[in-house]
Amino acid sequence: MPPRFERKPRTAREEELLELARQTLPAGVRTPSFSPEYAMVVESASGCRIRDCSGNEYIDYLMGSGPHLLGHAPPAVIEAVQRQLAKGSSYLLVSEPAIELAAAIVRTVPCADRVCFNNSGSESTFFAMRIARAFRKRDKILKFEGGFHGMHDYAMMSNQWTRDARRLPRPSPNSAGIPSAIEEEVLIAPFNDLEATAAIIEEHVDELAGVIVEPLQRTLPPRPGFLEGLREITRQHGVVLIYDEVVTGFRLALGGAQEYYGVVPDLAAMCKGVASGYPISILCGREDIMDHANPMRQIQGDHVAQTGTFSGNPIACSAALATLGELEKPGTYEQLFARGRRLMDGLQEILDAAGIRARVSGEPPAFQPWFGVDEVFDFRSTQGADAALGNRFTELLLDRGIVKAHEKFFISTAHGDREIDETLEAFAEVAAEIAG
Ligand SMILES: Cc1ncc(COP(=O)(O)O)c(C=O)c1O
Repeated sequence: MPPRFERKPRTAREEELLELARQTLPAGVRTPSFSPEYAMVVESASGCRIRDCSGNEYIDYLMGSGPHLLGHAPPAVIEAVQRQLAKGSSYLLVSEPAIELAAAIVRTVPCADRVCFNNSGSESTFFAMRIARAFRKRDKILKFEGGFHGMHDYAMMSNQWTRDARRLPRPSPNSAGIPSAIEEEVLIAPFNDLEATAAIIEEHVDELAGVIVEPLQRTLPPRPGFLEGLREITRQHGVVLIYDEVVTGFRLALGGAQEYYGVVPDLAAMCKGVASGYPISILCGREDIMDHANPMRQIQGDHVAQTGTFSGNPIACSAALATLGELEKPGTYEQLFARGRRLMDGLQEILDAAGIRARVSGEPPAFQPWFGVDEVFDFRSTQGADAALGNRFTELLLDRGIVKAHEKFFISTAHGDREIDETLEAFAEVAAEIAG
């Protein structure tokens, strides 16, 4: 039996750091639950474990919100980064790791004829939309209700945090400070509803540049035929289909969700999972669309400016190449999926056995439980879920030495059978407490 977790009280140093953070960080202290008592300052992380400054060690399923497919601080990535560090960190000019990485992406990601590098998921979805507009010479972007594409103005519409959902296709801004004019440029459709989506596309086709979708929306898988239908209708009208593979890129397969679900978009944005936590994101896609990033097009006036000081820096590219090298080893995905499957199915079975109404949704490498509902398939169907119980579940796991995000569990290759066993045991205890 593994030793039971008992949280050590906060040290004076951790209290001091938390207080300093409160005084200096306007966004506040990010905690693994909504209750301040669970606030922690991270001291270090390795493999599937994370430690706070008071000496508590947790099994980590937050995994930095997804990037650590190989677990924290994987040796192969550290070694590759260390080799690059002494050679310099950022040149603006293209480097050997950047070119090798671009070639590797073209080799592994089905839609990728050409590749551009950025630093965050938000940047790559932002540039994907801009390039789609330049290609189509139209302005509007359609996204799905509850889908998340990052922090820029066009993306922060009707995402998973929406409170005042409007009648579709009207968007609801998710932040103050977004110019109201942007609302006119974004259309919202219901995920997994092909008929309603097709009707919106057809009505607005003359002003529509692109459709952006998370192929696995948060943890909601596409219904059979949904992505296929979306592909067909966008192709039929020449509208650019963009996959936001910021989460699914490398996580569901080397070729991302487009390989996993077998439907290839025109453009894709990838980020988490690419470089084991080093800041890099990738925009890739069809040659004729991506060609708008070619500066030679300045002459014809349809060049899309998309560059950045740190974009394609050799440290992040080296980390990505090393990550890819590890993921390409035979059996990696089989193991990742097998462990994730045990945990995901195990959680559903434990909740069912305890008589707790809940649905676990997702794919084995990234999933989440929704309490108080039987079925989830789009944003509105998740709105009936019991968020307070979800938060209690998160906190009861924290009390047992397990960290997860408010939403998902992220599995890595570093989560071994032992940790999966321990987690299943904790699920059973938590379920008994909730049911009890
Ligand atoms: C699907 C998806 N797209 C885009 C983003 C934004 O990425 P970043 O936080 O790197 O800007 C996220 C971040 O969680 C995401 O989950």
